Amino acid sequence: MAKRCIVLGGSGHVGQAICRALSARGARVGFTYHQGEELAAQLCAELPDATSQRLDLTREDEIAPAMDALLEALDGVDAFVHAASLVSTNEPPEHEKLARLSAGGWDRLMAVNLKGPALACQHLAPHFGDGGGNLVFVGSTDGVKPVPTPVAYGASKAALSGLVRALAKELGARKILANVVAPGVLEGGLSRTLPDELRQEFIKHSALGRLGTREEVAKLVTFLALDNSYLTARTIVVDGGL
Ligand SMILES: NC(=O)c1ccc[n+]([C@@H]2O[C@H](COP(=O)([O-])OP(=O)(O)OC[C@H]3O[C@@H](n4cnc5c(N)ncnc54)[C@H](OP(=O)(O)O)[C@@H]3O)[C@@H](O)[C@H]2O)c1
Repeated sequence: MAKRCIVLGGSGHVGQAICRALSARGARVGFTYHQGEELAAQLCAELPDATSQRLDLTREDEIAPAMDALLEALDGVDAFVHAASLVSTNEPPEHEKLARLSAGGWDRLMAVNLKGPALACQHLAPHFGDGGGNLVFVGSTDGVKPVPTPVAYGASKAALSGLVRALAKELGARKILANVVAPGVLEGGLSRTLPDELRQEFIKHSALGRLGTREEVAKLVTFLALDNSYLTARTIVVDGGL
């Protein structure tokens, strides 16, 4: 039977590639978007049997109904992927320094990057079948290594590593595995806020001498979502050797 995958943030730069890669492997995809309604409709038209659902992860009351709608559309769940994210506590998004940190923005960012996906997993966990499944969170190298990063973003990405360790231990007996995929700097998406000199620094220090692509991240996410049966509680860095 085709695996049923729920993707948070399927409308994003990386999220779209993840939905395409899952679908190309024959999985059925149900994904959320926030403001990218048009993009979500295009992706649904492109991918066989894909379905989308609007969700604002800062709105706790929207999470359970959105997960229920996707569970109903897919008739269950075998894999969950979190690919939604905010990069800064200010609007428009910026590569902000500590002095620019906003307290209200901190709560919004943590809701999208950490609390929202944890609540989504709380709601979805009872719906995984006897065969278990996979929870995959897209983090960032910013949560693993001391690189120049916006404070709230780096903190939220590091917290995902703790989240998957806890989830993996609690849910392992039910064959539910949990991991973080932590990309380095990619072409496009959230890295658009990166100052150009910093982007050049990342390229200079990468073993491969280039930025990553969203397809390279999607390959690893797809493996974890569809094929993984023993790797759990880990944060896997995919950054070209930074
Ligand atoms: N791009 C990079 O260079 C890079 C590097 C390292 C790690 N990553 C990680 O890759 C993941 C995806 O990033 P990306 O580059 O694809 O970013 P992106 O293109 O900016 O996409 C962000 C996603 O988050 C969703 N989102 C934003 N606010 C939301 C909210 N309030 N509620 C629900 N969803 C919300 C967006 O939905 P709408 O567009 O529909 O509003 C979109 O789907 C993130 O975890 C990021 O940390 C990216």
